[in-house]
Amino acid sequence: MTLYEAIFERHSVRRYTDKPIEPEKAAVLQDKIDEITKKTGLNFSLCLNEPEAFMANKPNYGSFAGCRNYFVLAAEKGRDEDIGYYGEELVLLSQTLGLNTCWVALTFEKNKVPAKLKDGEKIYDVIALGYGQTQGVPHKSKPTEKLYRAKGDVPDWFKKGIEAAVLAPTAINQQRF
Ligand SMILES: Cc1cc2nc3c(=O)[nH]c(=O)nc-3n(C[C@H](O)[C@H](O)[C@H](O)COP(=O)(O)O)c2cc1C
Repeated sequence: MTLYEAIFERHSVRRYTDKPIEPEKAAVLQDKIDEITKKTGLNFSLCLNEPEAFMANKPNYGSFAGCRNYFVLAAEKGRDEDIGYYGEELVLLSQTLGLNTCWVALTFEKNKVPAKLKDGEKIYDVIALGYGQTQGVPHKSKPTEKLYRAKGDVPDWFKKGIEAAVLAPTAINQQRF
């Protein structure tokens, strides 16, 4: 599966099985994190077998079960766009490895995350990771034609970009684009 194909397969998954992530897959993810860190200076890390951060269940929004693996996305202030871009690269790479994910900004215990932060850095989000009990379900989307105005024919590359954007995860599925 390519990263592009993974866009169509990915859905948020909040309930996980006990199946551990194989060391070979963890190594592929760690290599990507190392590459991102070197290129961008973002402080990403992979936490394996750490159940504490997802023990709290908040009603109404995002209740998790069995999540013991996650990415931590940290950086200094003002790096929101990079966090989104490179975090989603990890999400799609995980999907190509047969793993499921869910971005999480709110419904986890931040103080239980064993991340090493440098001065001035903060945790933006974590991304839950593991083998899902299901593959999740497609979210509701805005119709793509409501997202742009065009005079004349719209090129295929543009339509594909818009299609990929509406499939992307957004907080509370707000799709504020
Ligand atoms: C930045 C960001 C933060 C999110 N925070 C949470 C969260 O705190 N709890 C949760 O259960 N889901 C969270 N989500 C997942 C969204 O609810 C989910 O992506 C959206 O409903 C679309 O569904 P999909 O990911 O299955 O396509 C977050 C998503 C993003 C992109």
